[in-house]
Amino acid sequence: MTQFQPQLGNAFYKALSAEDMDPLLAINEIIANSIDSWIEEYCGKKAKRPKLSIDINMSAKQITIQDNAGGMEPEELKNAMGFAKVQKELSDCADDLMGMYGFGLKAATANLGGHFEVVSKRKNKDLCHVVMPIDKMAQEVKAGKSGMLSDIEENGYNKKTKIKDVEKVFNPAKTKSGTFIYISQIKRTNFNPESIMNELCYAWHFFTQENHLGPAVEIKFNGVKIGEPEWGRDQGGQVPYSSIDFEFPFSWRENTETIDTKVQFSVWLNYKGGQYQAGGLSLYRKLQMVSYKDQELGKWWSNESASIEGYLSTNYLTPNQRKDDLDRTTRFYKEFNKALEPIMKGAAKLVDSQRGGLDGKGFSRTAMAQDEFEMGKFLALGWLKYFNEHPLVEVSSKFPKELEKFLKDKQNTPSGPDEPGGPDEPGGPDEPGGPDEPGGPEEPAIEIFEPIDENSFNFHGETYQLLILKDKTDGSSYDWKKTGEQIEIFIDDEADGINKEMGDMLKKMTSDSATGKWEKLSLNLVKEHVIHQFLLKENIQNARAFAYAKSWIENIYKNE
Ligand SMILES: Nc1ncnc2c1ncn2[C@@H]1O[C@H](COP(=O)(O)OP(=O)(O)OP(=O)(O)O)[C@@H](O)[C@H]1O
Ligand SMILES: [Mg+2]
Repeated sequence: MTQFQPQLGNAFYKALSAEDMDPLLAINEIIANSIDSWIEEYCGKKAKRPKLSIDINMSAKQITIQDNAGGMEPEELKNAMGFAKVQKELSDCADDLMGMYGFGLKAATANLGGHFEVVSKRKNKDLCHVVMPIDKMAQEVKAGKSGMLSDIEENGYNKKTKIKDVEKVFNPAKTKSGTFIYISQIKRTNFNPESIMNELCYAWHFFTQENHLGPAVEIKFNGVKIGEPEWGRDQGGQVPYSSIDFEFPFSWRENTETIDTKVQFSVWLNYKGGQYQAGGLSLYRKLQMVSYKDQELGKWWSNESASIEGYLSTNYLTPNQRKDDLDRTTRFYKEFNKALEPIMKGAAKLVDSQRGGLDGKGFSRTAMAQDEFEMGKFLALGWLKYFNEHPLVEVSSKFPKELEKFLKDKQNTPSGPDEPGGPDEPGGPDEPGGPDEPGGPEEPAIEIFEPIDENSFNFHGETYQLLILKDKTDGSSYDWKKTGEQIEIFIDDEADGINKEMGDMLKKMTSDSATGKWEKLSLNLVKEHVIHQFLLKENIQNARAFAYAKSWIENIYKNE
């Protein structure tokens, strides 16, 4: 048994234990270390990782965490009590390892209790056992002593232990490895096991299913295996079919380099909102949760929008060194924060009680919750449509079949330019079906676009005339302008960059004697394109504008 001076010194431990870290985050740090050890142990080896089991037991008296990962030798254990930074950085598996500061274990244990011990064993080696009476160490500092109370037994159990029957509690076979962490003199004893349980499910849901590193990790809390989280548990649960997965491609500059990444998102609606820890985005880095229901990133969260919940995952969000929050000073965080704001605020506006809902006149959560039809309509034509048509995100979840009928009904409902938040930019995915599909169960509404003939159409009750003029454009072969109810199309047979063949074609198209059917068709295709452009300018959603323009040309050729 030897006493040793941890590299960090007693004063450091004293300072650490004065921090106020959330107990869940502290436990998560210890779990992260077990997973890191499991990752490292099989790093670069052909053999598949065996199942990792982590057992957490928590009472008002003590907290223990046991794993069957790689374990530590005495030197490693001593290092672990100090700064252990370089170790993980240099690993071949550095990209997957969660640890980055060499600090988590100390911060976590010192925040949870006044005394901690680590018993650890590598395969085919003796076990070693360190005892760290943090509170006593702090008292020493107070008394001006620099004594060394931390104590390690390098070949067996440490006699200074406070663990009852330690040989029974943790005693792996010679060929096995693992680590056992014991914390007593618990600081905050008023924890709620049920909510810790659910938060652990949130925190480790990427690991409790099979992932690129190996089989699902088994994590037990007070004897109960944690599984998929109950998303939105405290907010009345998830609204069915509201969940949407998407990627947000994002680039930012770091010194002189531009870095491109794709941030993975999952967002949904809960039945209820609320204040503290209602809604928000849980943030994950390297599959580890670094913030539970964050309400800061993107500056979109408010009591009004608290029914929106979700998570996002990116390796570029980093925790701060104390591990009690994210590092919100990094360049990535700041740039990403700005980029996320408009997207999430658009979504938040949809559920705003004053400006939200499908008509922009207010979203009523309670009304929706009681009316499945209204909720379905809102999800299909508001919430999911918003993300599906957002130009900045790439949606990967399929549109729920159960909601498709609402999209079909929509074909016969005029859509004004005042749709809430929904960007009407071109490029959105096509709405299913054409505009002249039979109507849904509701009364067929008056169509806002109607083809008339080769030179005209009706739009919002007005008749527009298409007029072909030969004129100079600003460089392209044709251009158009709306004057009152006339749409003037200018065709320029001397436009820049067109060859003789095209010039001749344009000349023929516009000559008064243009009777050839190919010239006519070409001209009509130009008109079709102009109608499409015109409708987009009138705020008609792209897929619809396209379908209307197509119906116009089909109408001309319907019997030919
Ligand atoms: N369960 C464990 N199994 C094996 N080794 C462990 C375990 N827990 C901790 N260690 C060792 O202790 C060291 C210190 O852990 P600590 O959490 O303080 O730092 P870190 O994980 O390297 O970085 P971070 O501060 O970001 O967590 C680790 O680098 C690892 O070598
Ligand atoms: Mg760590």
